[in-house]
Amino acid sequence: MRKQTSLADSLTTDEIERRVTALGPWFHNISLGGVQTAPHHFLGDYPAMKWKNFQDAVPRDLSGLSVLDIGCNGGFYSIEMKKRGAARVLGIDHDEDYLNQARFAADVLGLDIEFRRMSVYDLPRLGQRFDLVLFMGVLYHLRHPLLALDILRQHVAKDWLVFQSLLRGSRARPQIDEDYPFWEKGVFDHPGYPKMHFIEKSYSQDPTNWWVPNRACAEAMLRSAGFTIESMPEPEVFICRCNESAELHPLPEGIAAN
Ligand SMILES: C[S@@+](CC[C@H](N)C(=O)[O-])C[C@H]1O[C@@H](n2cnc3c(N)ncnc32)[C@H](O)[C@@H]1O
Repeated sequence: MRKQTSLADSLTTDEIERRVTALGPWFHNISLGGVQTAPHHFLGDYPAMKWKNFQDAVPRDLSGLSVLDIGCNGGFYSIEMKKRGAARVLGIDHDEDYLNQARFAADVLGLDIEFRRMSVYDLPRLGQRFDLVLFMGVLYHLRHPLLALDILRQHVAKDWLVFQSLLRGSRARPQIDEDYPFWEKGVFDHPGYPKMHFIEKSYSQDPTNWWVPNRACAEAMLRSAGFTIESMPEPEVFICRCNESAELHPLPEGIAAN
């Protein structure tokens, strides 16, 4: 792994602390030269506490592989992927403030990671595929979540997808038939039928939460977009591979040609 000159070598702890404060508020808690970026996160030591529950399900050695971290935020997962030896890590986010945090974190740690401002809907413009795609904690922030999954599968994923979503409602996974007659209505009332909860205003004081699936819905959307779910090492995390024999559903013309 190419190690850049680390900013930690030239900045004092006080200077790192001042930069961390100026770049805040942070959603990712990362330790930078002994300075915690989000020590009072409402979820605890986040996302380290989540990562430890599924880190063994992600290949430990990423030497020679390319990684795309969609909605990279302060860069926690991009950094972890680079530490595993990925040849190239690209983190994208549509929020420049978060990207500046991620750039600073990578600089302090001396890691060569590329961060770019970009929306998930613009990914076809990249014209590149990645061995491992991370799509963590973004789906429910999108107004067009299935479109995003279709774009990922058809334009940037080459093999692995590590996916996480907030899930609400039943965790049941009922057997769903291929088809039902028009007059069958009861099946939709099963709490485990694939359901997306639409949030018109706000959830958890966050107006960017739009659609929260139940577990069966998240699984069905992944399959429908063309992924095979290999494992679920954590209650919200799905380890997936591209399903090469899946039927891929055409994207709207303007997006496909992006
Ligand atoms: C809940 S955070 C998840 C951050 C990180 N992936 C994680 O799992 O900890 C959601 C991130 O997605 C980004 N995001 C939301 N909508 C996006 C979009 N359309 N394109 C790219 N990033 C987006 C937000 O700016 C934010 O950084």
